[in-house]
Amino acid sequence: MAGIEIILGLVGRPNKIGLTNQLVSGALKGARKAGAKTELLQMSDYMVKPCLDYLAATCSLDLKCSYNDKNLEYLGGKITNCSGLILGSPVYWGDVSGMVKYFITKMYRVYAKSGLFNGLHALGISIAGGSGDGLITGLYSIYHFFRIMRMRALDPIPATRFNLD
Ligand SMILES: Cc1cc2nc3c(=O)[nH]c(=O)nc-3n(C[C@H](O)[C@H](O)[C@H](O)COP(=O)(O)O)c2cc1C
Repeated sequence: MAGIEIILGLVGRPNKIGLTNQLVSGALKGARKAGAKTELLQMSDYMVKPCLDYLAATCSLDLKCSYNDKNLEYLGGKITNCSGLILGSPVYWGDVSGMVKYFITKMYRVYAKSGLFNGLHALGISIAGGSGDGLITGLYSIYHFFRIMRMRALDPIPATRFNLD
């Protein structure tokens, strides 16, 4: 890809000093070392509302939520303009956090048919910071999202308190 790469990191947890933020920040640091520009967004600052899946799916033509979700538009625009995506989520009950789930399901509805993200390099980070249980199913949701969006999924980072180093 020509020009400077912009790698976008999304943190799916409000904690700005927690493990999820640290892991996404670490991956962005690596990207900067490789010459990329980076941007980190805390998804709690841009909470996507749940998809109502009710009206005809004109949102997939307009690429805009029919219920006017500025945060979805903002995050969708950021992903459209980046050259690589890092999505980090804590594991909650063996799945991604609620804010990541809402984001993913609305992204399906609005963007899945657009082809806009075909081939976009995407890295998933899952942190099971408690028992470590549910790590793989947490990652699964992220990589299922990448697949539906036809992104080019990179090897995942599955983290627990026990392998953090
Ligand atoms: C509602 C909830 C559910 C959780 N479920 C799991 C779980 O299934 N497995 C696990 O290892 N940790 C679980 N945790 C712990 C989180 O993964 C851990 O708090 C998170 O990684 C810490 O994130 P932070 O350091 O970025 O704040 C859960 C935490 C919450 C709040």
